[in-house]
Amino acid sequence: MPKYSVAVVGLGFVGLSTAACFAKLGAKVLGVDIDKKKIAAVEKGVLSFYEPGLKPILKKVIKDGSFTVSSNIRLVAQAPIIFIVVGTPSKEDGSMEDRFLLSASRQIGAGIKGSNSYHLIVVKSTGIPGTSLKLVVPEIEKASGLKYGEGFGACSNPEFLREGSAIEDTLNPDRIIIGGRPKDTEMLKTFYKKIYGKKLPKVICTNPTNAELIKYANNTFLAMKISFINQIARVCEILPESDIGVIANGIGLDKRINPLFLRAGLGFGGSCFPKDVKAFIEFSKKLGYYPPLAEATMKVNEDQPISAVRMAEKKLGNLEGKKIALLGLAFKPDTDDMREAVSITIVKELLKRKAKVFAHDPKALNTAAAIFDGKISLEKNAKACLKNADCAILVTEWMEYASLKPKDFKKLMKNPVLIDGRRLFDADEFSEQLDFAAVGLGSKV
Ligand code: UDX
Repeated sequence: MPKYSVAVVGLGFVGLSTAACFAKLGAKVLGVDIDKKKIAAVEKGVLSFYEPGLKPILKKVIKDGSFTVSSNIRLVAQAPIIFIVVGTPSKEDGSMEDRFLLSASRQIGAGIKGSNSYHLIVVKSTGIPGTSLKLVVPEIEKASGLKYGEGFGACSNPEFLREGSAIEDTLNPDRIIIGGRPKDTEMLKTFYKKIYGKKLPKVICTNPTNAELIKYANNTFLAMKISFINQIARVCEILPESDIGVIANGIGLDKRINPLFLRAGLGFGGSCFPKDVKAFIEFSKKLGYYPPLAEATMKVNEDQPISAVRMAEKKLGNLEGKKIALLGLAFKPDTDDMREAVSITIVKELLKRKAKVFAHDPKALNTAAAIFDGKISLEKNAKACLKNADCAILVTEWMEYASLKPKDFKKLMKNPVLIDGRRLFDADEFSEQLDFAAVGLGSKV
């Protein structure tokens, strides 16, 4: 009887959320990471990132013994199913960086060497088609001396969890995608059946290539949906009396379109969409095809944050010496993550124009301090950030900013000019009382 039902190798945001949720759902989980400091912190229930709801679950599953963490990779031999959940960031040219995947595979191979029970290696990390069979399997064969299909099997099982909703997404997935040989997909499906019980969603079993491409097609499509609505938003900004909020609502009610991911804003960021769309473009190019929609998706997205700076210029003229207050820095609310955050582009553009930048974020101030390195002023609260500002730009739609009223901006700012980059504020109410502009909002005639 194996000691663990599954092992999860790589305890970053996805690995840790997945492992803790599996344990909460009743599995006996081993979590492995080479970073000893991280292991010590996780054991105490301390997280190096902010994810709503994860901490209490982690504390509970560590305490009740359903989740054990270790830096000893050899322990993976005691789990029949081993998930690889390491990062696959972008290289300079946009293509996928595979070195963490390769080193995790080598370590797992060494860990299961000499084992006489069958192990299923599950690649949860996002990997371009070919990752499981052409990258992971050969490394494991080399390091373990075992043969694929005999001593061990492999599956691709992409994750679709969102930062800020990782717990909800892991406990209630829309669907589960498994790519591998039938014996292996069945083994993984049996595990999921056991932990989800009646809540098991639709499971699609296919080959690894399809499973891997599903992940890229999924993220590229969602990113494209955002760029699509942002493109219509740009038209609205020129067209008097138009409003992207009403338009998104109107098209979203068409069941074939659906309302999700139709929020116009300053563009998408984060650790997944930009990296995955770029990796998909590079991967397709290597196959000999230039994917125009994916390329346009990135192009629209790259310009979107700069449009907020142009709106500020339209209102104030030259921005040199002007105090610009940014509300929100994280790539989206409910996270302290600033990877590929549009705020970084906005700050860069404002500094280029010699504006004085002040910013606030409810969770990302420490992350921001490391990124901006003293080039902008980071304020402890929104009101301090707005004080004496010439213009405010709402960059991330944190709920706490939703309670700000026109009178707050009027009272605090030198010039009550507000640019709503995420359509958080009521356009009618704010336009009446402030010098207000917003993404996707046409002028009143
Ligand atoms: C995403 C995918 O949703 C998830 O399935 C995948 O596994 C990882 O990448 P995440 O990066 O956590 O998750 O963020 P998500 O909530 O999808 O938002 C991504 C970006 O798109 C954010 O910057 C957000 O502000 C932006 N966005 C999202 C919009 O601008 N408009 C929308 O309508 C939705």
